[in-house]
Amino acid sequence: MERSHAALERFDERTPLIYRKPIELPDDVHQWIAGWGGSSLFLTGAIGVGKTHTAWRTCRRWLEAWYAPSRPWSGGPDIRTFRSTALFDALRPDGPDEIRRTLVTELQKCDLLFIDDLAAAKASPWTQERLFEIFDERYINRRPVIVTCDVLPTELSDITGPRVSSRLAEMCGDSVVLLEGDDRRKGVAA
Ligand SMILES: Nc1ncnc2c1ncn2[C@@H]1O[C@H](COP(=O)(O)OP(=O)(O)OP(=O)(O)O)[C@@H](O)[C@H]1O
Ligand SMILES: [Mg+2]
Repeated sequence: MERSHAALERFDERTPLIYRKPIELPDDVHQWIAGWGGSSLFLTGAIGVGKTHTAWRTCRRWLEAWYAPSRPWSGGPDIRTFRSTALFDALRPDGPDEIRRTLVTELQKCDLLFIDDLAAAKASPWTQERLFEIFDERYINRRPVIVTCDVLPTELSDITGPRVSSRLAEMCGDSVVLLEGDDRRKGVAA
């Protein structure tokens, strides 16, 4: 259909170049997509195993599924994607209040929120509070989040604060996917 074609094209345009390449997704990820965001998805594993690539391709498959003919039409979805470092920066107390408030509201409401590398930077107490606002609203409304991270949800407490890590652990439930293997970047030079 026209609508889906245009939406997928727009999504590809904003996908970082190397993550546009189709890859095979783990079965657990296919199951998560089929479950329609009844839960959130947590992709974990060592450096370079493919967490970020898997997450971008998962968002795209999720978007394709949104446009499936069997699904009642409810308007194009709002998918937000952030590196945690950029997100934490955007939530800082400096800068205009209103812009930050708008961002928090958008991230509470969007149809799918993908945060890459959640353990990459530590959030300040202020940022932890903003993260709490975002995650709590998504938690109570069962709105899906995709997180990539090199530690488990239960080990995120120092970074996000305990209230966010506790919610995230419940939101992801069984959908914590460990990617295994070697650092794929090391294989490239060979
Ligand atoms: N399933 C896959 N098939 C082929 N190449 C892949 C696959 N997954 C990832 N890659 C490639 O491997 C490299 C590392 O992937 P990616 O950046 O997703 O790793 P990561 O786990 O997010 O690493 P980091 O922990 O450093 O953020 C990239 O070049 C990516 O395109
Ligand atoms: Mg990554």
